Amino acid sequence: MHEISPAWLAMWTNKLTLRKYKLATKKLSRPVSVLLLSDLHGAGLGAEQEKLFKNVRQINPDFVLLAGDIVDDELPYPPAFALLKKLGKNYPCFYVTGNHEFWCGRHRSVQDRLNEMSVEGYAHTGMQASLNKKAYRLKNSLHRDGGTREKHPDAYPHGVNSLKRELEGLEITVLEGKCATINIKGARFNICGVDDPVAGEDVYIEQLAAVKTYCRPDAYNILIAHRPERIEQHLKLGFDLVVSGHAHGGQWRLPGLVNGVFAPNQGIFPRYAGGLYRFEETSLVVSRGACKKNTRVPRIFNPPELVVINIMPN
Ligand SMILES: [Fe+2]
Repeated sequence: MHEISPAWLAMWTNKLTLRKYKLATKKLSRPVSVLLLSDLHGAGLGAEQEKLFKNVRQINPDFVLLAGDIVDDELPYPPAFALLKKLGKNYPCFYVTGNHEFWCGRHRSVQDRLNEMSVEGYAHTGMQASLNKKAYRLKNSLHRDGGTREKHPDAYPHGVNSLKRELEGLEITVLEGKCATINIKGARFNICGVDDPVAGEDVYIEQLAAVKTYCRPDAYNILIAHRPERIEQHLKLGFDLVVSGHAHGGQWRLPGLVNGVFAPNQGIFPRYAGGLYRFEETSLVVSRGACKKNTRVPRIFNPPELVVINIMPN
């Protein structure tokens, strides 16, 4: 690998690294290589993503799983599209949304909203205290909705449905409570995906119920779901493999000692910060994310990564 640093070096420099996991199954007669990419957050590596894509070409996966937050609602989207275009053209690609894709085009900046409420205009009047409380509540609600920063002028301007249709135009299969079946090296793969739960809890439950009906004993069944903390829900569905992202490796790690300090929706010392987790019938692979610079909190001893899952015949 030319551009991907060895793991020990990447640990210090936070350069892109390649992480490999191995799984075994009786359902395959030949090894199959799967690339998992998540949480790119629009980051670019080289002009037109040439450096990043060069690594993908060297890995030469049989197919690609895109586990959400590839596009960020606040950061420029062209680098993400440049990569997706290359991936879609060269490999079978399967995509689900993350929370940040769902927030695309959802609101204007915090400052715009505050200006709308005329907070500054009332700053020296008796209404200040009550408006400050309103502003605080608004900031908090926007924080929950992901609107903590100014949007970059090149942030994706439309909503999530436009984004999905554009990705389909790039030959990416968008899975929103659906499954796709492909045959690779004589084995049948049933690849399912669900939207991020910010689509609505009822939508999420409906989509999980829909994909469950597609699990087949004669196929290797994969679920792509952005959120690893939902694994208890996912384990009930009967998939061989679940892949997720979202946790960013827990932001700060002490390799061998602490696998992540904090992850959204999991809190401190997250259980599923990144790695391979084995359950009775299902394996969970959580990507620590591919964004070179973290978009909100810096990463420490936690290099961004491309994940390869080698599924071997047992
Ligand atoms: Fe996320």
